Amino acid sequence: MPRSKELNLNCYQTDKTAHRYYLDRCDSFFQEFVEQPIKLLELGVLDGGSSLLWRDYFPHGTIVGIDLKLPDVTELAKEERIHLFEGNQVDTDFLSKVANQIAPEGFDIIIDDASHIGALTKISFWHLFDNHLKPSGVYVIEDWGTGYWDDWPDGKTFQPKLSSSNEQENVQDIKLGFKDSWHNHNYGMVGFLKELVDEQGAEDLTRGLLSGRPTRKSKFHSITINPSLVFVKKNAA
Ligand SMILES: C[S@@+](CC[C@H](N)C(=O)[O-])C[C@H]1O[C@@H](n2cnc3c(N)ncnc32)[C@H](O)[C@@H]1O
Repeated sequence: MPRSKELNLNCYQTDKTAHRYYLDRCDSFFQEFVEQPIKLLELGVLDGGSSLLWRDYFPHGTIVGIDLKLPDVTELAKEERIHLFEGNQVDTDFLSKVANQIAPEGFDIIIDDASHIGALTKISFWHLFDNHLKPSGVYVIEDWGTGYWDDWPDGKTFQPKLSSSNEQENVQDIKLGFKDSWHNHNYGMVGFLKELVDEQGAEDLTRGLLSGRPTRKSKFHSITINPSLVFVKKNAA
């Protein structure tokens, strides 16, 4: 049975339990870790509801949370398997200090549910992914759709533009060898996510020509994009 179906989700004050799809999607990526003594880092603690959820989801796991401002919740402070630290997700020295103290061998799972701002998410992602996520570990990025919202600090409404409504003209363009860039959305989290697609394409991106040789493989085993949730699985060692 999927792990989330074994828990009483009404016990946790977090929006992760408000939308059934959230845990349904996590279940398939997290299943292999459920019985393991994993180390999980979550960026963004708020009231601590998700720290308690992960504590119960992974009965042998150590849960680490960081936030700009930690909640004053005594229940959390008493928890042996939960460690909370106050700091900024873009402070890479702080992130490394936390990682080296609790998970010197690396985290199995990292979840970014903090700012949902592309530039900040990118800094945490590359620092933690490269230095503090184990091989075959999973990095989850939440709420990437904020990049489409005008009322989000770095989001913007998308104005799609069709290059031509005439299919024949488009086909003709290809025959003539025109190499136009696609018109697409690059704001905030959406723009950052598209950079991750480039990383997944590293073998083709670094070979340049059909006949060229790739100079390196992608660091990603896979990237899975769902509405509001992205799962990046790191290559095995
Ligand atoms: C969506 S809430 C986290 C919700 C929590 N994970 C849950 O499921 O209940 C986002 C949290 O990220 C924190 N946050 C925002 N920007 C941050 C930053 N730059 N560094 C660290 N934490 C940040 C906020 O203080 C807030 O508590």
